[in-house]
Amino acid sequence: MNKNYSCGILGVGSCLPDKVLTNQDWEKMVDTTDEWITKRTGISERRVLEENAPAHELGINAAKMALEDANLTAEDLDLIIVTTETPDYLSPSMSCLVQNAIGAKKAAAFDLNAACSGFIYGMTVADKFIKTGFYKHILLIGCEGLTKIMDWKDRNTCVLFGDGAGAAVLGPVEEGYGLLNSCIGAVGELGHNLTIPCCHISEEDIARRPGENKRVLWMDGSEVFKFAVKIMDYGTRKVLEEVEMGLDDVKLVVPHQANSRILDGAKKRLGISSEKIFSNLHKYGNISSASIPVGLNEAYREGRFKKGDNLVLVGFGGGLTWGSALIKWSK
Ligand code: ACO
Repeated sequence: MNKNYSCGILGVGSCLPDKVLTNQDWEKMVDTTDEWITKRTGISERRVLEENAPAHELGINAAKMALEDANLTAEDLDLIIVTTETPDYLSPSMSCLVQNAIGAKKAAAFDLNAACSGFIYGMTVADKFIKTGFYKHILLIGCEGLTKIMDWKDRNTCVLFGDGAGAAVLGPVEEGYGLLNSCIGAVGELGHNLTIPCCHISEEDIARRPGENKRVLWMDGSEVFKFAVKIMDYGTRKVLEEVEMGLDDVKLVVPHQANSRILDGAKKRLGISSEKIFSNLHKYGNISSASIPVGLNEAYREGRFKKGDNLVLVGFGGGLTWGSALIKWSK
């Protein structure tokens, strides 16, 4: 149990719903314009699940792609972690639904909720299991159905979100490769700025919500915005500085995709070029914990990095939470 394996990514995959909702579609549903959405958020369209389609099906497809990329089968898996803030059921968990669907009979399974930072939290947890040799192969999926819990009449939030899933298979890799460092954190005192009630809702939370439906996602966008810009800079620098590396050592930053102005702010503070920061926000909007693994999968398949390149993944979200990870790509 005192082994010290390096934990890396063996395979990646993603799945988005087929249905596209454009800014022009939103113009017909709420008091908004394509111009406002594009200018204030950078989003042009997003992918949306059909009304009765469950989000975990996206997770299953993303998982199958990641397993194929890793040259492994479901039976090789020891553990499945699904990061989500929009589980189809509280029980069974998303991870158990996936475990059953893909036939990962020997895998343990649990869900992890750290909102949009979930994938980085999940990697940090998986790393500890793999490092010690406790588990060999872990499937980590960021899987979200945000359009199911948003207020379709609230223009402040509804235009921002979409649905999707991204997955990675983690396992032991060559020494010196894989996850070199990760940092995770939470600022609970700011949690009231982004809430999604479940079994209880406080009087204060009810009072803050303008819409009729009190059980939907609500946020104070500008407060989350301020937190996000600071944390993208802080998290990126911290994960590098802790291992005495700098931005010059990094090939690509794959950030959580919430708003192009947040990405521009991060670029400016970090002093990096547009080529060094991945963005697919315009086509998917904010897909919470799925955004980083979907971005990673797309960047990988576009050939944006190769074996030996260093990547930083960085995100923030409800909680409020944040996380950053430094990976030396190993495949
Ligand atoms: N169309 C037209 N007008 C709009 C829309 C819209 N879709 N949405 C808001 N407005 C209006 C507002 O009503 C307001 O009007 P008023 O001045 O007459 O009151 C005006 O636009 C400006 O509103 P602001 O909230 O100040 O706009 P801002 O520039 O802050 O942009 C936004 C809002 C896009 C939400 C931004 O604050 C943001 O991206 N915040 C970060 C969100 C985020 O990253 N969330 C993470 C979520 S993670 C998770 O866990 C799910």
